[in-house]
Amino acid sequence: MASHPDLLVGIETGDDAAVYRLDDKTAIIVTVDFFTPITDDPYEFGVIAAANSLSDVYAMGGKPLVALNVVGFPAELAVEMLGDVLKGGYDKALEAGCLIVGGHTVDDAEPKYGLSVVGLIEPGKEVSNANAKPGDVLVLTKPIGTGIVTTGCKQGITPDAILKQAVDTMAELNKGASEAMMKVGVNSCTDITGFGLMGHLSGMVRGSKTGARIRVGDVPVLPGVWDLLEKDTVPGGTFRNMSSVAESVDWDDGLSEKQRLLMCDAQTSGGLLISVPKAKLDQLLSELDAAGVQTKALVGEITAENVGRINVSA
Ligand code: CO
Ligand code: CO
Repeated sequence: MASHPDLLVGIETGDDAAVYRLDDKTAIIVTVDFFTPITDDPYEFGVIAAANSLSDVYAMGGKPLVALNVVGFPAELAVEMLGDVLKGGYDKALEAGCLIVGGHTVDDAEPKYGLSVVGLIEPGKEVSNANAKPGDVLVLTKPIGTGIVTTGCKQGITPDAILKQAVDTMAELNKGASEAMMKVGVNSCTDITGFGLMGHLSGMVRGSKTGARIRVGDVPVLPGVWDLLEKDTVPGGTFRNMSSVAESVDWDDGLSEKQRLLMCDAQTSGGLLISVPKAKLDQLLSELDAAGVQTKALVGEITAENVGRINVSA
């Protein structure tokens, strides 16, 4: 594993991105993310993939600076379609104040798109996922359930209005939430993506050597998700997430299988999960409000006991 005095965050903490110090004032944040289409609209796919890739920089508290396209595309598909994907990514990056300066495309049976992003942060200001403190409150900045909604879409059973709300959520940058947490100063943060709320929180408690408590009733859920769950619409990744956290999550007996699955739902471009000292909670909530962040849900706490484990109650 790479180790260097200027490598401030490497891969050992399972953090969202690496942080490398250039001098006393400047460190770069480096990250890459790409995946297969989640909706049928190529432009929308580009937007969501870019928002998702930029999110790892925001989770560390940084500002995205430049990015490169990472593309897999089938040679037999219309090249205009790829143009729409790239346009979506370019527009979303521009909204983030980030310039896409190049990239690389390979022939691929299934389309894939994402960005490798370089961001900036002052050394020492980076927010790790491995620094949560007992007594911290956990704030989540987007509703969950995008995996279930988009799987329902592939099955043709997600109503358009429901899909649209999920798409709007996934397309939203975590920029405002990140800037708000940096104004306040928080202990820890991660963004909720493929491993789901439980998977990413697991990483946080393991890295921080703490435990956590989560209340299902306090976790914000996208509209339509419960209806789809009733129809057994669950992505494969969500089942895999649930088995990989089986050893580290204590589910209260009263929780249904569907509630447990929802807490593990694989997200695309999910919100930030912020671990903030209780004394700073009000300040964080008002900064999030000022930044226009709609969802700011208190979903649980960090505990000194049950190190590396999460207790989930109704
Ligand atoms: Co991440
Ligand atoms: Co990532």
